[in-house]
Amino acid sequence: MTITTDARNVRDRSTAPAIEAEHLVKRFGEMTAVDDVSFSVPQGTVLGMLGPNGAGKTTTVRMMTSLTVPTSGTARVAGHDVASDPEAVRRSMGLTGQSATVDEMLTGRENLRLIGSLYGLSRADVRRLSDDLLERFSLSESGDKVAKEYSGGMRRRLDLAVSLIAAPPVLFLDEPTTGLDPRSRVELWDVLRGLVRDGTTLLLTTQYLEEADQLADRIVVIDHGRVIAEGTPLELKDQSGQAAIVLTVSHAEQLDEARALLASHVTDVHVDVPARQLTAPADGLADMTRVAAVFDRSEIVLDDLGLKRPSLDDVFLSLTGHRAEQETNHTTETGESR
Ligand SMILES: Nc1ncnc2c1ncn2[C@@H]1O[C@H](COP(=O)(O)OP(=O)(O)OP(=O)(O)O)[C@@H](O)[C@H]1O
Ligand SMILES: [Mg+2]
Repeated sequence: MTITTDARNVRDRSTAPAIEAEHLVKRFGEMTAVDDVSFSVPQGTVLGMLGPNGAGKTTTVRMMTSLTVPTSGTARVAGHDVASDPEAVRRSMGLTGQSATVDEMLTGRENLRLIGSLYGLSRADVRRLSDDLLERFSLSESGDKVAKEYSGGMRRRLDLAVSLIAAPPVLFLDEPTTGLDPRSRVELWDVLRGLVRDGTTLLLTTQYLEEADQLADRIVVIDHGRVIAEGTPLELKDQSGQAAIVLTVSHAEQLDEARALLASHVTDVHVDVPARQLTAPADGLADMTRVAAVFDRSEIVLDDLGLKRPSLDDVFLSLTGHRAEQETNHTTETGESR
């Protein structure tokens, strides 16, 4: 990344976590939105906070970013306590909220310059950084159009660009890609990977299991305000049951023979006749390699043979009994869900 500012240069390079939450609780009247949530994010890593609508993701982010006061518990960002030193917290972080916060009547460039000058950057720096960011988010050509003429995806990118102008060492992104089309989503992932490579610490909330899987070093799964699971994407997948060997036979008439052959090496073979597919639980790659060798020596022709690991969606289902994305109603128009 080309951006360097004071905020980045003075960053504490010690090994203290960049983001820490300890026993955070938030009640709204009788309702407990966040119920004893703790986590810690090492510098330069990505924590994915994964949960369905109403899980408490935004409320947690609002507490972490000093926008709302916790009912109890503590939070620190870049070593600064959110309750006792909210100013220092805000100086160390950028936030892209769930709904767009850009000023619709200003152009993309003006939005960037406004926020840059609010951060006290020099005019020359603001101009250079705005141009850099417009370029990086593929907004150069639309930089002088008013934001109300932007598409949902362009607004989302501008939002993120604005939150990066002061090059904060810690970035909070609340559902950054909800409502984006698949291509824009992949583009945004690339930008985020670049930031992390350059040392930014990221906390991102998402309802997309794939997004957490793609970007996060560690994931906390949150449901009804509580952390119900935590680990690397791989650990979470391992938690939710077994991998499976999936094998597709080329010729339907060989399906029975293939089933018999597979069943002589592994147990619990499941047959899907229309798909010409056999599935069986496997311990891992070793099992699959063994099966591959057996079929290689036979006359049976295969279209495909692979090891299917459980998806994060399977993980969520096994942890909560419901799918993570069941209530989501995405709109591409505004870039917001619901
Ligand atoms: N200001 C508020 N007053 C009352 N209840 C609130 C308030 N803010 C959030 N809640 C409630 O707290 C719970 C958690 O909401 P939150 O917005 O944190 O969820 P979320 O995980 O961000 O959901 P989504 O994926 O829909 O954005 C919900 O039941 C919500 O209705
Ligand atoms: Mg939310």
